[in-house]
Amino acid sequence: MKILITGGAGFIGSHVVRLFVNKYPNYEIVNLDKLTYAGNLANLSDIENKANYRFVKGDIVDAEFISALFEAEKFNAVVHLAAESHVDRSITNPLEFVYTNVIGTVNLLNAAKKLYTAENNAFKLFYHVSTDEVYGTLGETGMFTETTAYDPHSPYSASKASSDHFVRAYHDTYKLPAVISNCSNNYGPFHFPEKLIPLCIYNIKNNKPLPIYGKGENIRDWLFVEDHAGAIDVIFHKAKTGSTYNIGGHNEWTNIDVIRLLCKIMDQKLNRPAGTNEKLITFVKDRAGHDLRYAIDSSKLQQDLGWKPSLQFEEGLGKTVDWYLANEEWLQSVTSGNYQKYYQEQYVQR
Ligand code: NAD
Ligand code: DAU
Repeated sequence: MKILITGGAGFIGSHVVRLFVNKYPNYEIVNLDKLTYAGNLANLSDIENKANYRFVKGDIVDAEFISALFEAEKFNAVVHLAAESHVDRSITNPLEFVYTNVIGTVNLLNAAKKLYTAENNAFKLFYHVSTDEVYGTLGETGMFTETTAYDPHSPYSASKASSDHFVRAYHDTYKLPAVISNCSNNYGPFHFPEKLIPLCIYNIKNNKPLPIYGKGENIRDWLFVEDHAGAIDVIFHKAKTGSTYNIGGHNEWTNIDVIRLLCKIMDQKLNRPAGTNEKLITFVKDRAGHDLRYAIDSSKLQQDLGWKPSLQFEEGLGKTVDWYLANEEWLQSVTSGNYQKYYQEQYVQR
């Protein structure tokens, strides 16, 4: 089985690549990544020399390159994670999200379709890794299920919804074997410090303000990234083609409560007096179109395929903080260059 994993140098992709390379020595894993600001080969330094792993640098938006790669490599399956992933960036530059998330996905679908038809069905699966944000926002009650109607609000979620629709269209029209999973918010090691949790870990460490959008009352459903990778493994191997699975940890938190918990954990780990880090909390202008609440019902995945999350949030957050504190060099490298200007000046002050 030769599997193409796209976006494998990113946050979630690197955990998926690591899991597949270590767990399936007989699979050949090819990691295709453009290495944007969010992609980092240091995320994979522990497996880069494994015999069943290869890295290819390339852009999924480049149709000719993608077509030639598929023709040469004759992949048996694709796990597609490459994307522009940050909602705030999608608000300032929506077109980049259309190129990568929509056109990039369609380029991969076209190349997979060609292989599926030409190679006598040796192409087995196109797995699209997607987000719960396609479902829009919830009020105080209810959860997203696999049949919730799509209602994306941000340019990011609109681009992911569009790519989901294209995957289903290729399954329905050309019979391309495909599955989709829609996951809630991930956290854990190798998360780029632009997203709420790693940004606040970095800022607490450096005694900088913790920017909370609006009143901090928005709710997200957090899942440890290795649990997401584990769910992708299960779905990849067991799901029926044409199916969709929601992935989530039944773990809803308001943003302000997440950051208060993080402040408490980091007071202890940094030997600061209780309450020190909370003083860094700074309420800033709200995100435009900010979805109020996400909550994922993952009972289909739990019942059909037997997956369940392994970590409680407090434990996972503690593990995550330990990782960031122990990986100073990684943190330094990803926060050099334009990072300070982009996040610490532009974002924090709005
Ligand atoms: P990330 O931003 O950390 O990583 C994205 C990776 O894609 C990077 O390595 C980047 O270099 C690569 N990439 C970007 N544009 C590319 C292009 N044109 N060609 C090739 N490679 C390109 O993202 P992430 O948080 O790891 O998310 C991975 C996937 O999971 C995305 O599809 C995202 O929508 C989805 N997802 C993320 C979350 C989350 O909480 N982070 C939750 C649910 C779903
Ligand atoms: O739900 C899955 C999605 O989760 C993924 O599809 C996205 O790729 C991923 O980025 C994430 O999107 P969010 O917008 O929910 O994540 P983010 O970490 O950017 O924000 C989490 C919450 O915290 C959200 O309500 C906005 C808020 N926030 C975020 C930042 C960066 C702040 O209050 N302050 C901040 O500085």
